[in-house]
Amino acid sequence: MEALKATGVCRRYGKREVLKDFDLTLEAGEFAALMGPSGSGKSTFLHLAAGLLSADAGTIEIGGKNIVGMSDAAAAKFRRRHIGVVFQDFCLLSGKNVKDNVMMPLLLDGEGRSVKAQRSAELLLRHLGLMGRELDYPSELSGGEQQRVAIARALVANPEIVLADEPTGNLDAKAAREVSGMLGELGSEGKSAILVVTHDPVVAARARKVHFLKDGHIVATCMTNGDPDEVSKRYLETYR
Ligand SMILES: Nc1ncnc2c1ncn2[C@@H]1O[C@H](COP(=O)(O)OP(=O)(O)OP(=O)(O)O)[C@@H](O)[C@H]1O
Ligand SMILES: [Mg+2]
Repeated sequence: MEALKATGVCRRYGKREVLKDFDLTLEAGEFAALMGPSGSGKSTFLHLAAGLLSADAGTIEIGGKNIVGMSDAAAAKFRRRHIGVVFQDFCLLSGKNVKDNVMMPLLLDGEGRSVKAQRSAELLLRHLGLMGRELDYPSELSGGEQQRVAIARALVANPEIVLADEPTGNLDAKAAREVSGMLGELGSEGKSAILVVTHDPVVAARARKVHFLKDGHIVATCMTNGDPDEVSKRYLETYR
């Protein structure tokens, strides 16, 4: 079963067709990157795939379930169990500590108190280098640490897919390297698929595949060998 299968997706704003006949598939556990110039529709697609925005046409299946046309309430519930989202600006709850932020998708479904849920959160926090920070509040953390909390939250429910929109966009070079390294590690474990939108070839090169978006759909896909220079070269070839 594919983690994500988008077929014939269209989305316009007024007369402008941002996505048109957009197809994209991620296999279970696959780590892929989505690149394209500013305004090409990358965030629009992530919002559609997260059920935060509705498509005008097409289907988007997450783990085999089409989310196009779901009500907002159904989409929110589906998202908590099947989709993790990571945004550029972290979007943590400032009044909640690290642990509660990470557990939020489970707490909202009344599952946060189970031993399994607690263990899953603790494991992720350890994995992401946040042990000992459980009781801190987001304002006490660096940008890179906050983004790692957001990544832990995205993964805590073992979703089919994590959708990350420029997760290193607000970080300095060192924190960006750390966060992209951790995404790469989590990606290679292959539990949840990861789709990361990024302008950074270093982040994209961590993925197995890079998809290039142009004129509303994917026009090229390359396999990465971990080399950011290769990704940059393919980018320039696609958009020159
Ligand atoms: N709410 C909106 N109303 C009208 N137009 C919008 C809206 N949101 C996005 N757009 C338009 O849709 C197009 C795609 O936007 P989107 O945010 O998906 O681009 P992007 O590829 O994520 O760009 P960036 O790299 O700058 O983040 C842009 O031309 C944008 O102006
Ligand atoms: Mg964007």
